[in-house]
Amino acid sequence: MSAKVFVVDDQPEVIELLTELLKEHGKQARGFADGDQALAALKKNDKNVVLMVLDIDLGPNRRNGIEILKDLRVSHPNLPVVILTGKGTVDDAVMAMRLGATDFIEKDPRLGDRLSLHMKKLDRLLAVLDDNKRLKKQNALLRERFDLQMEMIGKDGGLAPIMQQITALAKIPRPVLIIGERGTGKELVAAALHAMALSRKGAFITINCAALPETLAEAELFGHEKGAYTDASSSKPGKFELADGGTLFLDEIGNMPLSIQQKILRVIEYQTFERVRGNKEIHVDVRVTAATNADLDKEMKAGRFRSDLYDRLAFDTIRVPPLRERRQDIPELCRFFVERFKCEVAGVQCNHISQAALASLSSRSFPGNVRELKNLIERAAYRCQSDTIGVKDLQSATHTSEPDLPAGGTLRERVASFEKQILEQALKIAGNNMSTAAKELGLGYDQMRRLVKKHSLEH
Ligand SMILES: Nc1ncnc2c1ncn2[C@@H]1O[C@H](COP(=O)(O)OP(=O)(O)OP(=O)(O)O)[C@@H](O)[C@H]1O
Ligand SMILES: [Mg+2]
Repeated sequence: MSAKVFVVDDQPEVIELLTELLKEHGKQARGFADGDQALAALKKNDKNVVLMVLDIDLGPNRRNGIEILKDLRVSHPNLPVVILTGKGTVDDAVMAMRLGATDFIEKDPRLGDRLSLHMKKLDRLLAVLDDNKRLKKQNALLRERFDLQMEMIGKDGGLAPIMQQITALAKIPRPVLIIGERGTGKELVAAALHAMALSRKGAFITINCAALPETLAEAELFGHEKGAYTDASSSKPGKFELADGGTLFLDEIGNMPLSIQQKILRVIEYQTFERVRGNKEIHVDVRVTAATNADLDKEMKAGRFRSDLYDRLAFDTIRVPPLRERRQDIPELCRFFVERFKCEVAGVQCNHISQAALASLSSRSFPGNVRELKNLIERAAYRCQSDTIGVKDLQSATHTSEPDLPAGGTLRERVASFEKQILEQALKIAGNNMSTAAKELGLGYDQMRRLVKKHSLEH
């Protein structure tokens, strides 16, 4: 069906002229002398109607274009409207634009020419509208995907106490520290805290403190003005500004360099700072959450983590339990990961996971926690040739993932060889991206670099 344009004008010759023109531009036109008739027709079936061309003066005994436009804005707020104006009705045209008309054309003897010129503009407008529709659809899809990513399994199971804590804390604009072993779902908890604080309209911004080079940290966090660095050709807001009205999630806070810990402390306390090279104090309203799998007590004792920052961050602490302490969630997690994998990857055949496979999973230790389970299930689902993932699929998925234990040599040599294999594999999976591999292994970036050097794994 081609795009339809409603033309409302009390002069039949104008309707005829516009209908012809619209046809030339590949649009189907339907003429109305009375605006209310057009509104009624639109209410009945507005499919394919992409535009209304509306005259202001529709003659005696009929409501004028402005009144029609007012109603239209209520019934069809997004339908673009081009207003036709006669001489001396400029005020009305201004009014129409205020009411949300898209454009107006003057009705004079050169109306045909004017409209011809206008059609190009109109086509562009329609293309933009098409784009908007597509983008809206895309946004909804992304939103859906985001929700799916952020879906937290175990809310009524092993994570029930955490959910209670999240619900209580969501409303309180104070920092929260999230602790837990690697892969337990700390980032999900931070996202849930943000999502549940409904009054927060701002964004959820994440910064990985372990991958933050000390020299750039300040600009990343607080932004910089033009010329702050040799290659800073324009000014740029930092993460604190981007998170204004929302949440800033400081991931892997245990790896934050001491010099930055000091700088950030004041900002968390007073919510004010200056950009690098800036001379204006910026005030923000940011909820800070931080996560770590490091033992912060130990880090504080060793002088690597400031105790005043710890105090400030830990208004309350959420401890996300390791998977081995909430095995009851494993079946639901497995089903969820299979479902999600199927959404993401075409051609995956399996729908279920066998009881025996679930039982075998329940006895594993999962040092990598939920992430490890997720990766295992995805590998198994990928290999599975039938409707149900069985023990065999899990075994083959496991064997390819875990390096063989070295057979000979002293304990130290064997440990080193095992460590090297693990690093090699993590790097391979991460496409040689050191920070991704480090994250996967629960290491800080610097630790990872040292290990890569130690085993001569540089590329
Ligand atoms: N309860 C859960 N429900 C669904 N998926 C989960 C759950 N917990 C964790 N995951 C998934 O496991 C993976 C790891 O979670 P996340 O990144 O939040 O862990 P983390 O504790 O931040 O890990 P790290 O310490 O390595 O940064 C993600 O893919 C996440 O979606
Ligand atoms: Mg994390």
